[in-house]
Amino acid sequence: MRFPTVLVVGAGQMGAGIAQVVAVSGRRVVLVDSAPEALERGLAGIRASLEKLAAKGAPLDPAGVLARIEPAGELGPADLMIEAIVEDAAAKEELFRRADAVLPGEAILASNTSSISITALGAATSRPERVIGMHFFNPVPLMELIEVIRGLETADEAATAIVELARELGKTPAEVRDFPGFAANRILMPLINEAAHALLEGVADAESIDRVARLGLNHPLGPLALADLIGLDTCVAIMDVLHEGFGDPKFAPCPLLRQHVAAGRLGRKTGRGFHEYAPRP
Ligand code: CAA
Repeated sequence: MRFPTVLVVGAGQMGAGIAQVVAVSGRRVVLVDSAPEALERGLAGIRASLEKLAAKGAPLDPAGVLARIEPAGELGPADLMIEAIVEDAAAKEELFRRADAVLPGEAILASNTSSISITALGAATSRPERVIGMHFFNPVPLMELIEVIRGLETADEAATAIVELARELGKTPAEVRDFPGFAANRILMPLINEAAHALLEGVADAESIDRVARLGLNHPLGPLALADLIGLDTCVAIMDVLHEGFGDPKFAPCPLLRQHVAAGRLGRKTGRGFHEYAPRP
């Protein structure tokens, strides 16, 4: 089996989802987070998701999958790392530097970043040819796409191995090049940002803006509800990367997005964003 042991770093909603789909594929996963309560929450989320999928008839054994996921507080050896920590370039570069020192030289270092430069992460290591983007979508167990992003130095063999891994996880890969926001967020974030501007200008209320996208454009979620799912802090961080990366004012984050973040209205994870949510169990 390709990549029999995978280190997933960061036990938030993306990291936990990634750990889950990798373990479902039969691989051993070490789920790393320095915060024990994050690991506990991540594992509880994986258990709930597996049980839900099994109850709906998915051919998987939740206990068997969970037994393949080992929580850990520190990086350790593995065949592949998939990083899913906070969307902050300095924090990610620091992690890639540490991983480069800990993981064997032939291991691939992948990032689930939604917008940060893979080339820059590669440059923080001694193996830029083995550094690549592997961008999953939320909720990871249900969403089919993985954007596979090559940095300037990423080798063909690394890209081919990750494309094949994506298929082995039951996902469909799309290969993209390393430009700010890659393909998905270059399209999605301006949509969310424009929805925030429409709300700010009083074009319509949040419910109506989302209803227009759902019922008129056939989007499964409206842009403001989707922003709440992603996290408004993450949306602003991605808009900042697009704005800075292209130097184009059309990517400037809407002031209303920034204001929500300043108020701690980050979306579902804090119970309030553009919409309000019942507290998490
Ligand atoms: N594991 C298992 N089950 C889950 C789950 C998970 N992680 N997350 C949700 N579910 C369950 C729900 O509990 C619900 O169960 P019930 O039917 O029993 O209530 C069901 O899945 C989902 O129900 P929906 O009614 O939403 O219907 P669906 O199955 O038709 O669609 C969906 C699910 C495909 C996720 C759909 O809601 C959707 O497309 N949502 C938008 C997701 C999206 O756009 N994600 C991209 C975000 S952008 C991103 O991630 C990248 C970035 O860089 C910012």
